[in-house]
Amino acid sequence: MNPAYIKLLQCFDSIKERIPFKPKVALILGSGLGDYGDTMDIVSTIPYKDIAGFPQSTVQGHKGQFIFGYVGIVPVVCMQGRVHYYEGYPITDVVLPVRLMKLMGAEVLFLTNAAGGVNTKYSAGDLMLISDHICMIPNPLMGENISEFGPRFPDMSDTYDRALRDIIKEQAEQMGIVMQEGVYVQFSGPSYETPAEVRMARALGGDAVGMSTAVEAVAANHMGMHICGISCITNMAAGVQTSPLDHAEVQETADRVAATFSKVVTASIIAIADAIN
Ligand code: HPA
Repeated sequence: MNPAYIKLLQCFDSIKERIPFKPKVALILGSGLGDYGDTMDIVSTIPYKDIAGFPQSTVQGHKGQFIFGYVGIVPVVCMQGRVHYYEGYPITDVVLPVRLMKLMGAEVLFLTNAAGGVNTKYSAGDLMLISDHICMIPNPLMGENISEFGPRFPDMSDTYDRALRDIIKEQAEQMGIVMQEGVYVQFSGPSYETPAEVRMARALGGDAVGMSTAVEAVAANHMGMHICGISCITNMAAGVQTSPLDHAEVQETADRVAATFSKVVTASIIAIADAIN
């Protein structure tokens, strides 16, 4: 058996008694966006440090716990803080949390992140619905296939589910919230991109750059989950904005758009859960 699968089953075993319900939606909160978790109708939490073998999130501003709670009447498992490749974990560990949420029963993966704007029509503070991605780091499905989850060569033609994107757009439109839509490019980090890398991302068709998300979508797609994602453009990418990039700016912008972000996420989760029933 694939060692990553054995580890995953051990993680699941170590917490299965503490999982209060079968979540419908798995929500991953990106840098600066973690506070959304506290607005849910919380039933219980499981700190990552309580989970045997679970990769720990080391990033400032990432709380490091699963929250089980309701958004409206929708049972949701939410990751307050994710694991990144740049933290030094093997790529299979980076996607272990996503696989764990699938084992809990989640059908939908709702991804969020902070990202740098590559498309010059964007501004810091914009929300971008992810239409597709380009992944510049190793594929998380490398190694022996976990056939219990999915095929060796999964199709990636409609990774960010068109139906889910339409629902999110409709919800945003109804609330008068303008959303961009574009391609997310995942670099490894932790250094921000160089201006030349940002120009490369743009030439390749990218609209935003970040250090997460694409690999999680790859793993979730392998397992047959419905996937959607929203990037919070916390800054314009290197070379597009003239000032240096820093993590504090990411947090500040995320705070500024928190209320809008929260409205879109809540309405979308409720509408998506309704639609996939
Ligand atoms: N690049 C990569 N990751 C990011 C950025 C960026 O400009 N902003 C927030 N996360």
